[in-house]
This record gives sequence, structure tokens and C-alpha cells, in this order.
Amino acid sequence: MRIDVVTVFPEYLAPLNLSLIGRAADRGLIDLAVHDLRTWTHDVHRTVDDSPAGGGAGMIMRPEPWGEAFDALVEPATPPHLLVPSPAGVRFDQSMARDLATQRHLMFACGRYEGIDQRVLDEARQTMTVTEVSLGDYVLFGGEVAVLAIVEAVTRLIPGVLGNAESLAEESHNDGLLEAPGYTKPAVWRDRPVPDVLLSGHHAKIARWRRDQALLRTAQFRPDMLAGLPDEALSKADRAV
Ligand code: ADE
Repeated sequence: MRIDVVTVFPEYLAPLNLSLIGRAADRGLIDLAVHDLRTWTHDVHRTVDDSPAGGGAGMIMRPEPWGEAFDALVEPATPPHLLVPSPAGVRFDQSMARDLATQRHLMFACGRYEGIDQRVLDEARQTMTVTEVSLGDYVLFGGEVAVLAIVEAVTRLIPGVLGNAESLAEESHNDGLLEAPGYTKPAVWRDRPVPDVLLSGHHAKIARWRRDQALLRTAQFRPDMLAGLPDEALSKADRAV
């Protein structure tokens, strides 16, 4: 998968070179490039923003550098899926991450200030799929942190990036539930034992215990997720918890 990120703060994206994402890039599973939007400015101040038409507080990003950036990065025959982080976008979630993980080319446009001139997105929609995407109901300074989160969530779903496909199957949000708590050695730590069932070697009982814990945790922290599950997602044993 090719991933392009356009930002006025390329150094904000440096963590993408670390850890598992960096390794996925080293192994050729993703081809990641971060671009400075100011590359496509032509004045001495390398201006990217201006006051809002109609007045008001803050600054809006001017359309010209964005237009030139897209002209340079987009191959018209094979356009990317453009993602524009914004608190006014659709909420990012695991199902969107799964969908994005199947795409050939993602491009992120990081807005700062009060956002990007709307005409940039309107024009981009003529040639590519554009999704304004929000991390959650709070406001960040700009889209860079959202890109870090989205790229990490998407990259780890690309086949070959994670070693163990089972860990994907059992993690939070994959089956619509939060994941059960985890334990490791020692068997007792500061008088706190690992739950007996996990040391029993009884696989069916362990699976049932984990499922029960996932259901209880989801009911406690995210009742909205439980309410949204289709009827057939819960067995009779699940309903007894
Ligand atoms: N930019 C500013 N706030 C944001 C948010 N909540 N999600 C995504 N991008 C943003």
C-alpha cells in the first residue's frame, strides 16, 4: 500500500518511521512518504493560510498549495482515497480501518488552523474518493495526530505486518466487543492471583471465561456497543452472563 501524507509539520509524523510501521515500510509492505505542503508555495513567506472569507476568527488554508500538491502526487488513472482529518468528519472506527487496509493508495491532507478551503475538497471529489474523518468528539490543533492513529490502525491490518493473525481475531472491536483482560506470569503477584481458570488448561472453559469477561466489560464501559450488536451475535450462553 502506498501512503502519502501532506502536512505543514512533516516532523510531527516522524513516529511513523518507528516500531512496527517503520518495519512494515522496511519490508516493503507499505510505501510511506511525508510531504511538506510548503513545497508547493511560491512566495518568500511560503504562505499556506489566510483570513476567512466572510470574517471570523482563525485562519483557513489557501487552496493553491493543496491543488499543486494533489497535481504532483495523484496519478489520474489510479487516484488515491483521500482522507482529510477533521472534527467535522465521520467517526473513524475499526470497520473503517478494515476497509482502508484493502486500498492500494491512501493520501492524507492534514489541515491546521480552521481547516482547508472547501473548494480543495470539492475539486478533489471530481477525481477521487474523499472522506473527512474524525478521531472523536474533541478538537485537536490539526490532522497530524489523527494521521498517526489512522495509519497505525490501518497498517497493522495489512496481511504480513503482524505476525500472528489470531491476535487480530481476538482483539477489541473485531467481534463488536471489548477484549477480555489479560494476565501473564507470575501466577501470584502482590497477593493477586491469575484467575484459576486461565491456569486450568481447559480450553473451552478459558474461551467461555474470556467471552464472559468481554461481555461484562463491554456492558460496563460501552453499553452502546452491546446495544448495536445484531441478535445473532449473542448466543444463549452469552445472554446468561
Ligand atoms: N483535527 C482536529 N480535530 C480533529 C479530530 N477530532 N479528528 C480528526 N482530525 C482533527
